[in-house]
Amino acid sequence: MDDAGELVVRPLEAADRSDWEQLWNGYHGHGPFGGSPPPCAVTEATFKNFLADGPMLALVAVQDGGLVGIVHAVLHPVTSSDKPVCFLNDLFVAERARRAGVGRRLVESLYDLARAKAAFRVYWHMQVDNETAAKLYDSVASRSGHTVFRRTL
Ligand SMILES: CC(C)(COP(=O)(O)OP(=O)(O)OC[C@H]1O[C@@H](n2cnc3c(N)ncnc32)[C@H](O)[C@@H]1OP(=O)(O)O)[C@@H](O)C(=O)NCCC(=O)NCCS
Repeated sequence: MDDAGELVVRPLEAADRSDWEQLWNGYHGHGPFGGSPPPCAVTEATFKNFLADGPMLALVAVQDGGLVGIVHAVLHPVTSSDKPVCFLNDLFVAERARRAGVGRRLVESLYDLARAKAAFRVYWHMQVDNETAAKLYDSVASRSGHTVFRRTL
């Protein structure tokens, strides 16, 4: 059993399903453009992919026996290296657990996991006006100077 208040970051497990889904829903609802999570079948498939030994990675932060944060990522190849890179797809900390270092621990734990998977870089996107996340990100990474373009197909 965890010591009271101790923060543990570990890979997502099958038994985390319902606690994880609360954070997943929170992630999709956060911010000014927040909305609904993906359809149930997509959520189910994503959860299964996290448990498989594939390119989709998920870590959870656990405190006092409950999940308080999640980070999800995807490993993918790139043209310029024989090593993969790691895209940090989602980061979310439950409101009750914020400003206590959980987000930072999740990002740093993802660095360790990505390194163990032979990735040479972790990168991610952020809404330009997410000032809270920017404060964390500026302390754990540097801005690439790239702008993201996209077109829905
Ligand atoms: C962004 C988020 C993950 C940060 O999680 P967190 O656990 O609160 O972050 P941490 O406690 O590890 O903060 C690390 C540092 O970030 C900065 N920071 C975090 N939240 C801040 C806030 N509300 N105001 C000012 N600085 C803040 C601080 O520098 C902090 O270090 P400090 O507490 O030692 O000063 C969390 O606010 C969240 O889940 N937000 C909603 C989802 C989201 O925006 N995800 C990112 C999408 S790109």
